[in-house]
Amino acid sequence: MAKIGLGTAAIGRPLYINIKEKNTSKPFDKEEFIREGEALLDFAYAKGIRILDTAPGYGLAENLVLEWLKQRKISDVFVSSKWGYTYVADFSETAKEHEVKEHSLAKLNEQWKVTKELLPSLNTYQIHSATLDTGVLQNTDVLKRLYELKKKHHIAIGITTTGHKQLEVMRLAMNVQVKNEALFDSFQVTYNVFDQRIAELVDIDFDRKIIIKEALANGRVFPNVQRYPQYEAHYDLLLELSKKYTVGIDAVALRFCMDSIKSDIVLSGANTQKQLAENLKAYDFVLTEEEIARIKMLKVDPEGYWSERKKLEWN
Ligand SMILES: NC(=O)c1ccc[n+]([C@@H]2O[C@H](COP(=O)([O-])OP(=O)(O)OC[C@H]3O[C@@H](n4cnc5c(N)ncnc54)[C@H](OP(=O)(O)O)[C@@H]3O)[C@@H](O)[C@H]2O)c1
Repeated sequence: MAKIGLGTAAIGRPLYINIKEKNTSKPFDKEEFIREGEALLDFAYAKGIRILDTAPGYGLAENLVLEWLKQRKISDVFVSSKWGYTYVADFSETAKEHEVKEHSLAKLNEQWKVTKELLPSLNTYQIHSATLDTGVLQNTDVLKRLYELKKKHHIAIGITTTGHKQLEVMRLAMNVQVKNEALFDSFQVTYNVFDQRIAELVDIDFDRKIIIKEALANGRVFPNVQRYPQYEAHYDLLLELSKKYTVGIDAVALRFCMDSIKSDIVLSGANTQKQLAENLKAYDFVLTEEEIARIKMLKVDPEGYWSERKKLEWN
């Protein structure tokens, strides 16, 4: 059964893409933010979470994870990290630009210098948002370097995908070989009650690790018919199931990602201990085949889903 891991995007920078329409929080205090992040990691560990996902693009998250592992002398947590995005907002709530994407060998080498400090906890190293436009999956210098890291450090090499062309990117990545060996072992992909397209590939012929992200669609799974009237049927069904299993809608949405597709890890993007505790209730029940089939019928066109996501703001 898929395990729940904790994504650290929300604890590494004060703003990230989600549904909140207005940021109502008090002025940003970096020391307090770090303490809250550490407390969330402690809480996750106490609740049995042994998988963390991070990235240099998530502000201070990667360093927070590193320091936390060291201070607590923790050796039974597996970490996945990424390269390819640089965080540039300097924790400012008014920043116009938050991250810069660069899929070059120079960026890989620069970010690896920091990420390698996570070894031996680091078990998966991913290209952050591999898309067709950056040409990263054809960049032989980058691919060779990733192969070298894989062999030298015995880590899985992966990609994360985003956008309505996830499936095309996954297919391309599956065929990438270095020295006659498949390079990519792990695929971190968006899958949820709305965008279910990757099932077309994963359900049929797929032998790599699947890590699911955005299981809550950045908050869009929570009933919001005013903004998303097209999701009324989703909201009705999620509410019905959340009542039946006496859990929140978040737990039902996460459980769908665990039961409906061959997933290894489903990431929680919880921002607070309360949210994480609610998310973890996904372990307390199993959806029936009939319920899964009903949710599957509600899949939407990925193009519409991703054009909506583009309109979400950094909050
Ligand atoms: N391209 C990539 O590589 C990529 C992209 C995205 C994510 N990721 C990874 O996936 C992880 C999870 O993804 P995500 O943060 O995008 O996705 P998500 O799980 O779809 O959404 C997380 C958001 O849902 C809300 N939430 C969670 N539990 C809740 C509850 N019980 N009640 C109310 N709201 C709740 C929170 O919003 P509020 O903050 O508004 O409360 C939280 O920030 C990230 O941390 C990161 O590690 C990777």
